[in-house]
Amino acid sequence: MLASIGSPPACAPEAGQFVAPTAPESGAPWMKLLTDHVLYWRARKAWSQQYYNDVFQFIAKRAPDLQQPLRIVEVGTAFGVSALLARLTHGGLANYLLQRLPRAQLYAVDPFLSGYDPSDRHAHAMAAIASKLGLNKTELSVAWASGMAYDLTARHGSCRYRLFHMRSQDAAPFLGAAFPKASVDVAFIDGLHTYEGTKADAEAYWPLVAPGGVLIFNDYGGPRSFAGMTFPGVRRAVDEFAASRAKNVSVGAPGKPPGLSNAFIAKTRRETAAGPNADSYCDAGLGCHF
Ligand SMILES: C[S@@+](CC[C@H](N)C(=O)[O-])C[C@H]1O[C@@H](n2cnc3c(N)ncnc32)[C@H](O)[C@@H]1O
Repeated sequence: MLASIGSPPACAPEAGQFVAPTAPESGAPWMKLLTDHVLYWRARKAWSQQYYNDVFQFIAKRAPDLQQPLRIVEVGTAFGVSALLARLTHGGLANYLLQRLPRAQLYAVDPFLSGYDPSDRHAHAMAAIASKLGLNKTELSVAWASGMAYDLTARHGSCRYRLFHMRSQDAAPFLGAAFPKASVDVAFIDGLHTYEGTKADAEAYWPLVAPGGVLIFNDYGGPRSFAGMTFPGVRRAVDEFAASRAKNVSVGAPGKPPGLSNAFIAKTRRETAAGPNADSYCDAGLGCHF
């Protein structure tokens, strides 16, 4: 299956970017992790049914020209797994969006460190996979990054998919330096789901968002909890952040973009890091000019 994916096109890596292994190494831990677990779970038990299409529809509504080279950041990329969901074949959110937005560039940020939050089931699932494969925490992290980077780079090209194998707080300065000022169209925040983690991510990634762009927060909560998990710290941090910026929080629902448990905060079209009404303009969709 992997052999048919082909080699990714050359694209100069950004500072801090994790570079994918160039070829499958037979027997490498990352290849086994990729084939036995990441692709397996991504194909069968993804979060995709819950919100992926709603996130896509949300982006498509704000940027109707799907050929736009949108810049998307995903904080916490995992692969999309829940043991409770039905069988699907969409893969994780990164793969889903890259498939449907043909010119989007996706910057994924994740340290892949198991046990990062005892109240998050995915953290336990990662630990179980490490134990099954006989990998320690660091080995699992490197293997996971290698597998994800190899697979998604090979599928979508090294210019469209870039992995920052680090914690969100460490990645923000790299991304800020790599991008033109305030030029991220969508930042999907789905990493550390504690109050402190969400608050820090909101603060760190808001300045990167373009006028007319959005921060989307997963697991904000909504009409019902997701897979029995609730993250009250996410809601508290998002509400406080919005209040401090005099922003509205808008919440999705099943079939209501950006989807179940997702909340978003939009940056006004004339707002820049320098403050509102600075000299910038945005045309229809998300494209902004300075
Ligand atoms: C719920 S999963 C992400 C699911 C993915 N966004 C999707 O929709 O398919 C949460 C991810 O956050 C990652 N994570 C935990 N702490 C993090 C941090 N400090 N920075 C970035 N990612 C983090 C975990 O490794 C895990 O992969």
